[in-house]
Amino acid sequence: MNIRILNSREDLNATAAAVIASLLLNKPQAMLGLATGSTPIGIYRQLVEMYRKGQVSFARAYSVNLDEYVGLPPEHPQSYRSFMNEHLFQHIDIPLAHTRVPDGNAADLAAECAAHEQAILDHGPVDVQLLGIGHNGHIGFNEPGQGLKGATHVVDLEEGTRAANARFFGNIADVPKQAVTMGVGTILKAKQIILVAFGADKADIVKQAFTGPVTTECPASLLQCHPNVLILLDQEAGGWLI
Ligand code: PGA
Repeated sequence: MNIRILNSREDLNATAAAVIASLLLNKPQAMLGLATGSTPIGIYRQLVEMYRKGQVSFARAYSVNLDEYVGLPPEHPQSYRSFMNEHLFQHIDIPLAHTRVPDGNAADLAAECAAHEQAILDHGPVDVQLLGIGHNGHIGFNEPGQGLKGATHVVDLEEGTRAANARFFGNIADVPKQAVTMGVGTILKAKQIILVAFGADKADIVKQAFTGPVTTECPASLLQCHPNVLILLDQEAGGWLI
């Protein structure tokens, strides 16, 4: 793993965006694995700015998202499809038909999970997968446990995860109890993985994930087994290394 601690969140966003932009320059039809939550917002803002300046094009790119809440229609303001449209897709030239966010409102969720895997097979593999990390060590919505699933699946969200995400909904009762998520196997098939974390509240879990044992009790620790991982931290999240 290549672990970098950067001076500011701006540096962190610019570094992650630069990796994605240079990938697209070399491989315009690349498949991007995208994430939601607070962490990637600044990276997407940076990519939009680079696009507006003519420094990057997404016209031939494909994207696949990590996860989506079960039971929210795509047009729901808190769905991850809405998040991606709002923070990235509507500001750049990626054809919407090239973007895939799981449909958490699908009548047949098992078929939807299989379709997500198939989309990655059709246009992938994922060239670069962007990840955040949950306070419990989750990546995507792969929550800690005695075992983890490899492929895209439906998962029950931990109460802590629902509480952390209640800030987007205003009320924890409105946070869905389940999600569709890429499995850890799907994530680990990406050619390159960039995990980004900022803030002092992520310092403990970052230390545990990348200096502790590889264990399903901390799903992010499995990244230690991947040959091409870039971990980007700000000073607070990487405080244990300084
Ligand atoms: P955050 O979420 O970016 O909103 O902190 C990260 C995650 O839960 O994976």
